[in-house]
Order: sequence, then C-alpha cells, then structure tokens
Amino acid sequence: MSAIPAVYYYDEHPSEADFYAEVIAGLTRRPRRIPPKFFYDERGSELFDAICRTEDYYPTRTEQALLQQNAGEIFDLIGERCRLIEPGSGNSEKVRLLLDVLRPSVYVPMDISRDFLYQAADQVAREYPWLEIHAACVDFTAPLSLPFCPPGGRKLIFFPGSSIGNFEPEQAEMFLRNLIPVAGPQGSLLIGVDLKKDPAILNAAYNDREGVTAAFNLNLLHRIGRELDAELNPQLFTHHAYYNAALGRIEMHLVSQQAQQLTIDGQRFDFDKNESIHTESSYKYTVEEFIDLAGRAGFTSRQVWTDPDNLFSLHYFDVAED
Ligand code: AVI
Repeated sequence: MSAIPAVYYYDEHPSEADFYAEVIAGLTRRPRRIPPKFFYDERGSELFDAICRTEDYYPTRTEQALLQQNAGEIFDLIGERCRLIEPGSGNSEKVRLLLDVLRPSVYVPMDISRDFLYQAADQVAREYPWLEIHAACVDFTAPLSLPFCPPGGRKLIFFPGSSIGNFEPEQAEMFLRNLIPVAGPQGSLLIGVDLKKDPAILNAAYNDREGVTAAFNLNLLHRIGRELDAELNPQLFTHHAYYNAALGRIEMHLVSQQAQQLTIDGQRFDFDKNESIHTESSYKYTVEEFIDLAGRAGFTSRQVWTDPDNLFSLHYFDVAED
C-alpha cells in the first residue's frame, strides 16, 4: 500500500469583492494602475508557467541552475530538518530542487491561486510522501502570519523568482521586515533577485517572441470580463513592456488602441487613445543594492550566488541578531 500523503489546506483567499474594489480604485486613479497580484487566476497562473518556459525569459532557468548547483551549500547553512516556507509558491517547481537535499520536516506553500496551489501541493505530496505539507491560500502581499505552521526546527523562507521585484522598493523593504517575525530569531531567507543588466536582454524577456507575456498581461482584462459585470473588449488594448532605466524597473502596461469606454458594474471609464493601465513593475537590483535593502529590513547577508553571465542572483540571509 502506498503512503497517504499528509497535506493540510488553509483558505484565506481574498474575496471577489477585493478584486472588484481594487479594479475600480485602480481604474479611477491617474495614472491608472491595477496590482499585479490579480494576474494570477487559474489561466494567469498557467500563462505565467508558460512564460517561464519561453526562450526569452531567462530568470527561471538561470535561477533553477543556481538552486541545483548550490543546494548542498544551502543545506550546510540551514542544517537538518528545517521548516521550509514558500510565499507565492505557484506550481512548486523550484522547491523540488531543494527537497531531496534539505529534507525539511515541513513544507508550507502559500499562494493566492487556490486550485493551482492545492493541485501543486497534492503533486508534491505524491512525489515526496515523507514530507508533511501545509498549503495555505493567502495573499502574501498582505502581512503574513503562520498559525498553520507546526512547531519544529529552524525556518527557511524561500522566495524565488524575483517576486520581490514586483514590489515598489519601499514595499519590498516592508515585506522583508514583516518576514522577520515569521522567520523567527534563528530563521533565514533564501531569495532570488533579478539583476540589472543590458536593457536589450530585459526588454526581450518581457516581450517574448511567442507572445506569451502579452497574453498574460491581456488576461487581466479577460479576467475582469469573466468575473466582474463588465463591458470591455480586450482586443482594443495591447501589451507594452519596457525597461525604465532611470527607475531600474521593467514596466508593463495595457495600452488603449483607440478612444473608448469600459463599463464595470454600471461605472464608466473613458480612455483616450494610447492611455495605459500600468499592470506591473519588475525592479532589478545589483547585488549590493539588494544586500543594503535587506539589511535595512533586518537581514544579514551570509552568501550570494550568481550565474557566469551575471543575469540573476540567489541570496541567503539570516535574521540579524539584535
Ligand atoms: C512573478 N514575477 C517575478 C514576474 C516578473 O518577472 O516580474 C512576473 C512576470 N511578468 C512578466 N513576465 C513575468
């Protein structure tokens, strides 16, 4: 008889009312802006996975190689039977590169996309039947608490993929500061951060030739059409992404191709031709900039790994001692 995988589920998924309220607020303000967390309905999560497999989007494969090559060193830093916590775990693919080496006592994946999270957790449980899993559907951009994490060894917070880049720098610092009580005094943070580099490489990564990033961005409008009482035509918008060197970030926008009106729940939004909705920023950091940012939040750098082309960085931090 095969072992029954131990998976526990927690659901604090944000309600549809949050999506509605944030879309209305985001379209009302100028410049118009909708937070990137709303990309990740089931279709958006699938499209994001597809982005990660494109030739042009280098961060995923580069970070995977760094994790694979350095898993042994990561184990030396955290030690045996840690509790592994992953905010924004998505398909839980990268954590597989660590599980056999770290052999954590518990894995806590957290994601906003409920069905996607539960399916991924079930799949990890089937592949690693010795692992206890507590899957929590939460909005990890809100302050985290872990009532569902059982007591045990040191905590390692795993935050790969340069998701930290999707916060404004002040919010990124705040997010990291909020992780300190989650990690606890002996806790650590393993975090992937995309590096500043030749803008041509960055622009190609966010304008992939297969058009998957464009579909991912436009899915936000399809989602609004599917879930809210909306009258809009996504085909009248186009994907626009570029590196803003002055601010050190990729910006993604949905640009209106003509003067038009959208209606959501009876509320009308007028767009001029070329007016945009800013849907995502993806900040890039040098190694030193990121160590400074994390230091201000209360983390001490222990190790940094980068690839030979200096595309991506993987940082290991400890919670700083008082
Ligand atoms: C999830 N996040 C780190 C991705 C990024 O690169 O900022 C999201 C993404 N947007 C377009 N491509 C990928």
